[in-house]
Amino acid sequence: MVSQKMTDAINEQINAELYSAYLYMSMAAYFEDLQLPGMAHWMVVQSQEEMSHALRFYKHLNERGGRAILKAIEGPETQWAAPLACFQAVAEHEAKVTSLINGLMRLARQEDDYASESFLQWFVNEQVEEEASAAEVVGKLKLVAETQGGLFMLDKELAARVFNMPPDLTI
Ligand code: FEO
Repeated sequence: MVSQKMTDAINEQINAELYSAYLYMSMAAYFEDLQLPGMAHWMVVQSQEEMSHALRFYKHLNERGGRAILKAIEGPETQWAAPLACFQAVAEHEAKVTSLINGLMRLARQEDDYASESFLQWFVNEQVEEEASAAEVVGKLKLVAETQGGLFMLDKELAARVFNMPPDLTI
């Protein structure tokens, strides 16, 4: 059985993951408006991933006898100065999420909650990927800033991203 303290912390994290999904959907809308459909698509895929993260925490709570309590989701920003600034905001947001996951891991260790510790290891690894993929796009955007048509080519590249619901999360 999961403790009340860990239940509360996971409920906060479910909210943070849903906020992330909301933020990335807002960024998708920003890119649609800029006529950059590949970047918009990348953000929609990112948003879907965040929904699956929320679901993963929700399932963990249910399996451990905890109760998911959904709270209001804060409204995300809607405008960024440029595509580079928007992807830099992704990188900053993911760094923040990493620190939230680290906080949950710290709590699991303090509480001798080995099941949550094992579960959270997936998120520790996932955050390494999340930060790396945001940093990769930031790096590419800086490179293409000087080249004619570079943004167009990068937009085409980002259109190829796919999301597959992990089999353990399918209902
Ligand atoms: Fe759910 Fe992008 O971290």
